[in-house]
Amino acid sequence: MSVNLNQTNIDLDDPNFRSVFANLQGNILKGHGRDYARHVFFCLGSDEVANRQWIWQMSEKVTSMLEQGQQHQAFKLQGKHDHLFVNLMLSASGYRKLGILREQWPDDPAFLAGMKDLDQRYDTSPRGDHKPTANPLNDDLSQWESDFSQDLDGMLILALSGPLAEAEKALTDLVAEVAQSLDGIGHIAVVQHGHVMRNDKQQVIEHFGFVDGVSNPKFLFSELTEEYRNGGYSNNDPSAPLNLVMVPDPGGDHASFGTYVVYRKLQQNIKGFWQRADMLANTLSENADRKISAEYAGALCVGRFQDGTPISEQSGDGWTNLFNNFNFDDDAEGLKCPLHAHVRKTNPRGDTVRQFNSPPTIERSRRIVRRGISFGETERHPAQEWTEAGLLFLSFQASIVDQFIFMQHTWCNSEKFLHEDVGLDPLVGQLKATEVPKPQSWSKGWGSPTAEQVSFSFSGVVRMKGGEYFFMPSLHFLKNLP
Ligand code: HEM
Repeated sequence: MSVNLNQTNIDLDDPNFRSVFANLQGNILKGHGRDYARHVFFCLGSDEVANRQWIWQMSEKVTSMLEQGQQHQAFKLQGKHDHLFVNLMLSASGYRKLGILREQWPDDPAFLAGMKDLDQRYDTSPRGDHKPTANPLNDDLSQWESDFSQDLDGMLILALSGPLAEAEKALTDLVAEVAQSLDGIGHIAVVQHGHVMRNDKQQVIEHFGFVDGVSNPKFLFSELTEEYRNGGYSNNDPSAPLNLVMVPDPGGDHASFGTYVVYRKLQQNIKGFWQRADMLANTLSENADRKISAEYAGALCVGRFQDGTPISEQSGDGWTNLFNNFNFDDDAEGLKCPLHAHVRKTNPRGDTVRQFNSPPTIERSRRIVRRGISFGETERHPAQEWTEAGLLFLSFQASIVDQFIFMQHTWCNSEKFLHEDVGLDPLVGQLKATEVPKPQSWSKGWGSPTAEQVSFSFSGVVRMKGGEYFFMPSLHFLKNLP
């Protein structure tokens, strides 16, 4: 029986998907929800048989979608997350070291080239009518941490919840076990430590202090029901077909699917962000009848207040219910939520339909599934700029080129999206090292067509430290390797 990937709103217990979910790695259709993670990047050796055997051995630990669902049920009943969660993914260099047939390799061009190949050209124009672009992400390899400069053949995500000390010890022991099992075959290249940060309402936040993980495509009945309760979806439909994130695994059987993974270690300049927000607030307050706060200026950059409230919906301090049922239909000019705001650049919610007459399905097909986690110090107001703190950005998608690269290149990094003079995404937009960003334009009065617009350059608060593209294969592929 062939599987219809156009479907959405799937019940985890749907008997038609049982073999697919038993074969699909967890975390793809729904986040694993653990608080602590280790990202274990490994290098394989030259013995293809030993490499295959080791991957097969590791596959025993991998959590399937089905198991993740069962663990979640147990968690709801017992109230604790005691299960280890594991994902396993391979880069193109990893596939090359398995000595398997070429037909079994995933074929996304960015995956095959790898993130470090800056000469590779991708077609990232909206209609495929421009010349393919080299280095569309404007990455500068000289800024990368040396650990990411080598070929990383694969990565394991090991994740746990529970009391901090216990979880950290268990994860350290697990990494040591992995290192031991690799002895004589390959080695661990680098381990990144992730941890979930929360605000006083226990909502997940990132280092600048904003609630994160609010808006994500939803595939499962349970998640869509929750989103419906959380504000409905009359103005924004969060549902997504499985083929936004799942692709057939060329190394598996008819029920085998995987996903492409983008990994980017992004360092955040927390002090710098709030200093700039303060300066922007002062600039907006000049000759104005009310004082604009740094909190409001920060919300103009992100498109949401720190508590998650979309700025397009409210001008003052945010309210507390997380709200995703909004679009920009009443704000085509960007007078409430700037056109350059991070959430508007990365999810234009109808802007491209209005501006380019492009079908809504195309805009919606660019969405990515975000599964990142914070790293580093938890100090909310560090005294120094560029402390060891940031986001281990992880996104899952069916196409790296048409989704992540398109989003970062054509939307965040383009000063001309949505139209001329919009400017960069203030959070993650990056130009080539030699280029100087143009200032963005900011309105002094929320929603007012007559309010003065001021120019202010807001960028450079996030730095790319290294990463790679991976494929997360089906369990069928992993378990049939030796
Ligand atoms: C949303 C922060 C990097 C894509 C958000 C939100 C925050 C945030 C606070 C709003 C909450 C939410 O809707 O979940 C950050 C920070 C980053 C970062 C601090 C870097 C350190 C990126 C990158 C991309 C990206 C590199 C992709 C190019 C998105 C998307 C959304 C989002 C797609 C959801 C937009 C929506 O559907 O409304 N981010 N982000 N983010 N971000 Fe980022």
